[in-house]
Amino acid sequence: MYSSVLSDDGQQVSFTRAAGKATRFHAIWLRDNAHDAETRSSRNGQRLISLNDIPVDLKISSVQIDNSDALITFEPEGKTVSYNLPWLMENAYDIHGKNSTAGTPRGIETWDSSLAGSLPIADFTNVHSEPQALRNWLEKIARLGFGLLENGPVEDLALMKVVDLFGYVRETNYGRHFEVRTEVNASNLAYTGLGLQAHTDNPYRNPVPTIQVLYCLESSAAGGENMVVDGFRVAEQLRSENEDWFNVLSSYPAQFEYSGESGVCLTASHPMIELDTCGALQAIHFNNRSAAAFTDIPFDKMQTYYAAYRRMGELVDDPAMGVSFRLSPGECFIVDNTRVLHARKAYSGTGKRWLQGCYADKDGLHSTLACLKRSAGAAVPDTPIEQAG
Ligand code: FE2
Repeated sequence: MYSSVLSDDGQQVSFTRAAGKATRFHAIWLRDNAHDAETRSSRNGQRLISLNDIPVDLKISSVQIDNSDALITFEPEGKTVSYNLPWLMENAYDIHGKNSTAGTPRGIETWDSSLAGSLPIADFTNVHSEPQALRNWLEKIARLGFGLLENGPVEDLALMKVVDLFGYVRETNYGRHFEVRTEVNASNLAYTGLGLQAHTDNPYRNPVPTIQVLYCLESSAAGGENMVVDGFRVAEQLRSENEDWFNVLSSYPAQFEYSGESGVCLTASHPMIELDTCGALQAIHFNNRSAAAFTDIPFDKMQTYYAAYRRMGELVDDPAMGVSFRLSPGECFIVDNTRVLHARKAYSGTGKRWLQGCYADKDGLHSTLACLKRSAGAAVPDTPIEQAG
């Protein structure tokens, strides 16, 4: 059973359940988050009013508790709105520390090479036919930042069937997809099949593509394993070794550029370790091939910056940090390109390797995952949404 107390001349109300702690809400927050039919569309949940429609001298005149609902009357509108108390508690913001989540974001789990025994792998057919299997796989990708699929078709553009599972292709100057073909011959090993340091793709874009899919169609060359490294674990490790190094890489942007083809001059700046406004890890941007001249780092920080950048690279290259796997035809992997770095090891023999890659975005992946979690029996609106926004 809840109780309520009005305070601050009706500007605030607090709710307490049994002997629990009081949780405060502001009148303006409550009014803005009313779910009545005049405030929110019952069809698509979108807000029908703007803040300017709410009187500036808003206050709460009364609160009535009715089991798990609170009936709140706002003045000067004279409007009474019902709030579900468990919903309010779920969305409460009066929680110490809630807004200072510096460190690793909630809901993710960082990893190193010890993950090798439990790779987030799923069966291509299962994730296409069983919502639960898809949900399990997407949950692992959301938590770990990458995932693999096996037993898929060996056919041109099969990677599009992977993207169809959760979202949409991000088309770029490389097209809707790109070919990664390598032919290794014994007389020319030095020039083909070279290894690539682990990196995130396309830091010269803003926004960067947030998902990459790489799908294997042919793999007869020895070597050429793929490796993934958790950039968030690298950042955590760097911070534990030297806070100044972490700070310099997260405080100043690096420049990246790509102009390797006619008509393309892409440039963007991102800190190599990007934090959100609360100080939590948000993204990693690391790519030695497309790093440009760094010009936004103060003179007296540049030496420290390069020491930090060097150490970050050492951690990225450390075999203890990453996990490797070899893709066979019909297998693919997907990475969160804002967190997990990917690499290709060098080849050691002859043969061919053919992968197809594409970009997509993780907002679609998170949306699909949220819908799968919600879907057990939930109705889907049968009316079209008139307007995207
Ligand atoms: Fe790449």
